[in-house]
Amino acid sequence: MASILHVDPSPRGDRSKSRQLAKKFIDAWQDLHRDDVITYRDLRQTPVPHVTEDWIAASFTAPEALTPEMTELLKFSDELVNEFLAADRCVFSVPMYNFSIPSNFKAYIDQVVRVGRTFTEEDGQVKGLANGKKVLFITSRGVEFEAGSPYEGWDSQEPALRYAFQYIGVSDIQFIHANGLDMGGGAKTGARRSTI
Ligand SMILES: Cc1cc2nc3c(=O)[nH]c(=O)nc-3n(C[C@H](O)[C@H](O)[C@H](O)COP(=O)(O)O)c2cc1C
Repeated sequence: MASILHVDPSPRGDRSKSRQLAKKFIDAWQDLHRDDVITYRDLRQTPVPHVTEDWIAASFTAPEALTPEMTELLKFSDELVNEFLAADRCVFSVPMYNFSIPSNFKAYIDQVVRVGRTFTEEDGQVKGLANGKKVLFITSRGVEFEAGSPYEGWDSQEPALRYAFQYIGVSDIQFIHANGLDMGGGAKTGARRSTI
């Protein structure tokens, strides 16, 4: 039995392609792995705040020195971190916005990449603490990025996601990209087969 975290950031509801694709994936997965437990987080329902100066100060304060105000500031981040660390496998659906990720998902990452929780520093070296889990990103994008297309090399989404999660110790990172959606001309998918 595995625990799976499924996160949907798209600000769109039923019309969201990334949500639809991730739902199909999760439903198919659940059919094959009936004992797996899915934890679902919809960032439309629980908006993620941007980090602030006080939040940053709190996040770099040793646990024993935290004031009640600091503890309160970190409460939602702790909830997200606990949820993320508890999962064996994570499925994140991610729309492409301006060649990268939507700001709410960036805010999510900023709350989850936490010193002392998901990474630490030893002898000046960063050490990820989120080891042993598999992460799958199901992306939905308007244009094509293959060699020879006008947007070849413009994909800042996959590198941004890969680096942030590698930094906190995730070594098994996979992508299913659905390109060519919602920019006219119908839906063309460049999806690759994948597993979480
Ligand atoms: C604000 C905004 C910015 C977008 N920027 C890009 C982009 O840079 N490149 C791209 O290929 N598609 C872009 N798109 C198209 C979306 O990636 C596409 O519609 C995707 O399906 C959105 O995901 P969703 O349907 O899950 O909301 C953009 C869409 C919006 C609304």
